[in-house]
Amino acid sequence: MTVELRPLAPRDLPAVDRIERDSYPTPWSRSMFASELAKPSSICLGAFDAETRELTGYVIASRYVDAWHVMNVAVAREHRRKGMATALLLRLFELTGRGEGRRGYTLEVRVSNDDAIRLYERVGFRRRGIRRGYYTDNREDALVMWKDPVPEAAASA
Ligand SMILES: CC(C)(COP(=O)(O)OP(=O)(O)OC[C@H]1O[C@@H](n2cnc3c(N)ncnc32)[C@H](O)[C@@H]1OP(=O)(O)O)[C@@H](O)C(=O)NCCC(=O)NCCS
Repeated sequence: MTVELRPLAPRDLPAVDRIERDSYPTPWSRSMFASELAKPSSICLGAFDAETRELTGYVIASRYVDAWHVMNVAVAREHRRKGMATALLLRLFELTGRGEGRRGYTLEVRVSNDDAIRLYERVGFRRRGIRRGYYTDNREDALVMWKDPVPEAAASA
């Protein structure tokens, strides 16, 4: 399958919604995605099957003063373990890794989410701390992870 990475558009929201509901115990609402799409300080990228145009995954990141916050990463169940999330995150680093205002990256992940933690470590995030009871649905702790800004030479390579 050839994968195409491009910014999400409002017309992609029904497909985002389907993946989101199948991926999280407490999914984001469609309006949360719509508001991220509308923010100039957010990057919302989708991975698409180039042939069928089907959405296979997405990443949402928001620019804050301290760092880029990776808010959401999900891949459709049938397309997992094919490097889709890795490709989305690497594209995010590429898009944000240039120029003066370069920032690091941070995210929170459930301490039980071994698959996601492994993914994040593979792309350069490191464990930095725990937020106790961060997830309101089951009071689960969040692992806080950080990644340094991409060196400029690597970003433009
Ligand atoms: C976590 C998630 C986004 C990973 O997406 P993906 O496209 O399957 O990830 P990749 O194929 O890029 O995986 C990269 C690496 O991460 C690790 N990994 C990812 N999923 C894994 C799994 N199910 N079991 C073990 N390791 C896993 C592996 O090291 C993998 O590399 P490998 O396949 O060469 O071994 C996907 O499982 C998902 O959508 N989960 C539900 C939503 C979620 O938990 N998101 C993260 C919230 S913070």
